[in-house]
Amino acid sequence: MDSAAIRDRTVLVTGGAGFIGSHLVEALTPHNDVRVLDNFSSGDRAYLPEDVTVVEGDIGDPIALQQAARGVDIIFHHAAMVSVSRSVDAPRQSNETNLDASLLVLEQARQEDARVVAASSAAVYGHPDELPVSESAATEPTSPYGIQKLALDQYARRYAELYDLETVALRYFNAYGPRQQGPYSGVISTFLEQARAGEPITIEGDGQQTRDFVHVSDIVQANLQAATTDAVGEAYNIGTGTRTSIEELAETIKAATDSSSPIVHHDPRPGDIRHSGADISKAKRTLGFEPRVGLENGIQSLVEGTRLPPADTDATVESIGEGSTFS
Ligand code: UD1
Repeated sequence: MDSAAIRDRTVLVTGGAGFIGSHLVEALTPHNDVRVLDNFSSGDRAYLPEDVTVVEGDIGDPIALQQAARGVDIIFHHAAMVSVSRSVDAPRQSNETNLDASLLVLEQARQEDARVVAASSAAVYGHPDELPVSESAATEPTSPYGIQKLALDQYARRYAELYDLETVALRYFNAYGPRQQGPYSGVISTFLEQARAGEPITIEGDGQQTRDFVHVSDIVQANLQAATTDAVGEAYNIGTGTRTSIEELAETIKAATDSSSPIVHHDPRPGDIRHSGADISKAKRTLGFEPRVGLENGIQSLVEGTRLPPADTDATVESIGEGSTFS
């Protein structure tokens, strides 16, 4: 999918100054009128191109939302309270942001007759009962965050049925890439920081747990495809289909940074998911999704600070696989 396929549209990206949202904004901006609604609680204005219209406000503020969504064709809904542990500490507060506000977004989309591409999560599966996990697997989320994402995911699909609204839910697996930082960011940014500082790389548990790490540029690709697909009212897994153990990840990051950090083991995280990996055949078949960035290349580009090709270039999987860098 080519970002140029979405042209001359007015689009809103909620959470557009955040980690995933800001990469999406960058891909959309050259050909579209892009609006961002963000309260900058974790996002950064510096990530936003100049010609974006910014509405600063909470996603749960109906006035701000109304203003940002007026006349839009598509809403990419990425605003969320993304910390799983904070959702455990403050379930009502995270519910307000992740679910109550999401319903406002869906309602606003009905007013505007706008398509909604909603950020769902692998958290909807909880401990998956099959690997790789497909969209039809049981959904038994283990945290308030997962419950809220599952409700959003189901609301989005039912809105398609009940109100004829065009919606797509994308279930992201473990996203990583530039701009992922802060106390609630993922294991890759944590390990990179530790390796660069020469501090111990802290594996929680035995390190044999596995994850499906998906680069943010591939998540952008999926969003662009979701914006134009005819197959609405559906949820799609967005990962790579490859699982990597946390131990292997620690070794890869240590080697990529040429770090002398020791790898140490701490207690496992309570309630940690043992294995997580996506069956992406539905997204491949229906959206034309094809992950282009393997983990080693993705980590290498993070270490070198090089840019992976934006979604509208013609770069192939092979050219990335050969270790080319892009600037
Ligand atoms: C991730 C998402 C979460 C989503 C879930 C879906 C992030 C930050 N979180 O959670 O939003 O709901 O997938 O399944 O992307 N680890 C270490 N050492 C560290 C940090 C982490 O060993 O210093 C381990 C953790 O114990 C875990 C694994 O690395 O086993 C991944 O942790 P993390 O990056 O926090 O993501 P998930 O828990 O998979």
